[in-house]
Amino acid sequence: MNASSANDLSTPDVIPNIIAYHDRTKHQTDRYANGPHGLDWATQPDPFRRFVDAPEFPLPLAGSDDISTAMILFGAATVAPRPFTFEALGLFFELSMGLSARKEIAGSSWYLRINPSSGNLHPTEAYAVLTALEGLPGGNGVYHYAPLHHALEQRACWPQSATPEATGFHVGLTSITWREAWKYGERAFRYCQHDVGHALAALRFAAAALGWHVQLLPEWDDARLARLLGLDRREDFAGAERETPELLVWVSTGDGPPPALLQGDFTIEWFGRANRLSNDHVDWPAIDEAILASVRMALNAKSAACKDAFAWSPPSPPACGHSASQLIRQRRSAVDFDGVTGISRETFLAILDTTLPRTSAPPFDAWPHSPRVHLVLFVHRVNGLDPGLYLWCRAPADTSSIQSALGSDLVWEAATDSIKTAPLYRLGRGDLRNFARTLSCHQDIAADGAFSLGMLARFESVLRDRGATAYRELFWEAGMIGQSLYLAAEAAGIRGTGIGCYFDDVLHRALGLAGHEWQSLYHFTIGGPVEDLRLRTAPPYSHLAGDT
Ligand SMILES: Cc1cc2nc3c(=O)[nH]c(=O)nc-3n(C[C@H](O)[C@H](O)[C@H](O)COP(=O)(O)O)c2cc1C
Repeated sequence: MNASSANDLSTPDVIPNIIAYHDRTKHQTDRYANGPHGLDWATQPDPFRRFVDAPEFPLPLAGSDDISTAMILFGAATVAPRPFTFEALGLFFELSMGLSARKEIAGSSWYLRINPSSGNLHPTEAYAVLTALEGLPGGNGVYHYAPLHHALEQRACWPQSATPEATGFHVGLTSITWREAWKYGERAFRYCQHDVGHALAALRFAAAALGWHVQLLPEWDDARLARLLGLDRREDFAGAERETPELLVWVSTGDGPPPALLQGDFTIEWFGRANRLSNDHVDWPAIDEAILASVRMALNAKSAACKDAFAWSPPSPPACGHSASQLIRQRRSAVDFDGVTGISRETFLAILDTTLPRTSAPPFDAWPHSPRVHLVLFVHRVNGLDPGLYLWCRAPADTSSIQSALGSDLVWEAATDSIKTAPLYRLGRGDLRNFARTLSCHQDIAADGAFSLGMLARFESVLRDRGATAYRELFWEAGMIGQSLYLAAEAAGIRGTGIGCYFDDVLHRALGLAGHEWQSLYHFTIGGPVEDLRLRTAPPYSHLAGDT
């Protein structure tokens, strides 16, 4: 198969390729997906991409955290948009893709970030496409965001006259798959896609804190995006790990549509060469095949938006007194749960409420596609709710097809007063802690929280309708749900953790699911965290103040 036939809607022959990738990267109870069998520390990738010799412009770090209430993140409050200034741009990146803390233990240290990542490996890179921003010395062009330095590295510039005035800017996300593949082998492509979904939601939440909006632009096919961001400039990536284009969003800081980019006849000047992240690499051809099969082609890029929105009631997230930036900055993954903390039914429903795909609330107001992902819940400790198996249906139109796909021995009782405002069904009662632990690669975090869950996505028919590129989008949607859950858990005074390691078909079999129409794409757990007291937590940017 050549690249030009990949993902052509009229030739669905790449669909089996992406389904084959999905199947071969399932963890089985007797065989984990093909990976490196241990970590080769000598080739551990540098977590920070730099563009050597590119002009660097440090962004200001925010001095104060007192911007708007956290309720704005969930669409339960509004705030006047901040003027689009260099300072506000700095805050936007600090609150979306910046560092959140430095962890230290016995002479070693590492950084955490605002956006989470499987294994803290951070394959996602961000670029800003800026037009006419006062105070930006480099002028119009493409800038790579460097989180360690909280700086913009200029990759490209073009004449001021080439882009019209705009009330906002574009942000592009890319993946360096090698970063994840180094640890996880073939399954890493999935984790990269989760991370893109988390990062997309992180962009949306940061914009919300500033009173701005974000819109995913599905019409940008991969080749065009690679050209815009300079990913196709082989000379700039010689000897360095490749970056694959993922998505482009428009961040609107006022009224007005996104400007046309790279149109007309003008010269682009490019700067910098990508640094090499590891001195040696292992090839994972299955990942290359998955990338090729799921390429977004110009042909199907337009066919993206088909949102069949349901009119959900106004948001009712967990109440909290934090500011938006405080909540964003304090997000962490729990490494352990106490096995005793329970939550009320109201808190449980308020957390789930933040995952509903509302067209006018973050983060799903940025998402142009129909909701495809639902939550299969393992309730362990929710006061007022029997322990057991539940379903949270994020698209009422899907309820009957899920019901007919699942095993007939499930009970399907409405578990709330109104399924239209809180679409929770009880499927069965029972203690599912052992099952949840086993399902999640024997990880205690799935059993010791208040609840854990699997994200069940409509799968094969979505790929057939929208092309194999929808494989990536399904994982993005799951990642966005994960980011909402992380923040909602923090708002509720507890903590969440994404779970990428799970035995896919163990859940499918337990639910009576056959075939590929429904697949579990991501798992998550929430509960009372236990801190690892051996670790010291330091501020994220003390190295920039010179007091490391
Ligand atoms: C897609 C994804 C999958 C993850 N899978 C697991 C997992 O299986 N087990 C686990 O303990 N943590 C998991 N995590 C949590 C990460 O290890 C964590 O995000 C990372 O160490 C960074 O820490 P932070 O979230 O506190 O910033 C996952 C996170 C993401 C985003």
